[in-house]
Amino acid sequence: MITTTVEATRQAVAAARAIGKRVGLVPTMGALHAGHLSLIQAARSENDFVVVSIFVNPTQFGPKEDLSRYPRPFERDVELCERERADLIFHPTPEIMYPLSFTTYVEVHELQKVLCGASRPGHFRGVATVVLKLFNVIEPDVAYFGQKDAQQARVLSQMVRDLDVPVALRICPIVREPDGLALSSRNVYLNPAERAGATVLYQSLMRMRQRIDAGERSADVLIAEARQRIDATPGARVDYVAIVDYDRLQPMPRLKGKVLVALAVYFGTTRLIDNVLMDVPAEPEA
Ligand code: PAJ
Repeated sequence: MITTTVEATRQAVAAARAIGKRVGLVPTMGALHAGHLSLIQAARSENDFVVVSIFVNPTQFGPKEDLSRYPRPFERDVELCERERADLIFHPTPEIMYPLSFTTYVEVHELQKVLCGASRPGHFRGVATVVLKLFNVIEPDVAYFGQKDAQQARVLSQMVRDLDVPVALRICPIVREPDGLALSSRNVYLNPAERAGATVLYQSLMRMRQRIDAGERSADVLIAEARQRIDATPGARVDYVAIVDYDRLQPMPRLKGKVLVALAVYFGTTRLIDNVLMDVPAEPEA
């Protein structure tokens, strides 16, 4: 079933809940790929009623970003959802989610302004706002997000905790192409040369992981090496390379504990992100 209004969606979910069904939600912006499908599969395996939302959320795009050209292959998305046995697709219009009178936004301070938030001001405010709205419309028991957007997952888990939202979040592993490139709806923007160069994100992360496993603990050294590798890739331009603690997303000069290694790289106007989460043992005593 496909619903477009809040009322119809509430009704459909209420009917499922009335017969005791556990409800899982997978929020997406559509243009579904195997990364999204892995979330739907996780939801399917843990719930009785699976809702996929497909909404290209205007409030999370900056004025110069790709809102108008973001891919919207809705019919194919519906087919994929049906193949994965989703029970309900919520596909609202921007006017339904943001009527002219709309004025309320959710801000997750500190966490929203670093990493991707620094290059995309207002992005996480838009994400947090739309996701809270989706939670309020669907009231899922569990919601599924990808580790691909590590900061998004962190921002949303903070929001849920701070605002006592009664939902459990599941963060699922990154799904990659055979050459390591993380699947993304934006990969279709890449021309063949850019697509070839885009493997530098994963290669840089794997190289950093190797160096950390071999004992390197200086963030400056690791970041400089990764920047060099990316700068040497034709067409690639570093947005950021960062090593932060996964709790506060703050820089960590010497690595220790739960560490997020994250990067964002432009190819032309296309911005790609990737990350690895590591548990780094303390440095051996000198
Ligand atoms: P979108 O980019 O469509 O992604 C929807 C979900 O799929 C997110 O939780 C994202 O982390 C996950 N995802 C994307 N690529 C993935 C990959 N390669 N492996 C695993 N999971 C992946 O993220 C958004 O939409 C929006 O910000 C949204 C949360 C829907 C709010 O508008």
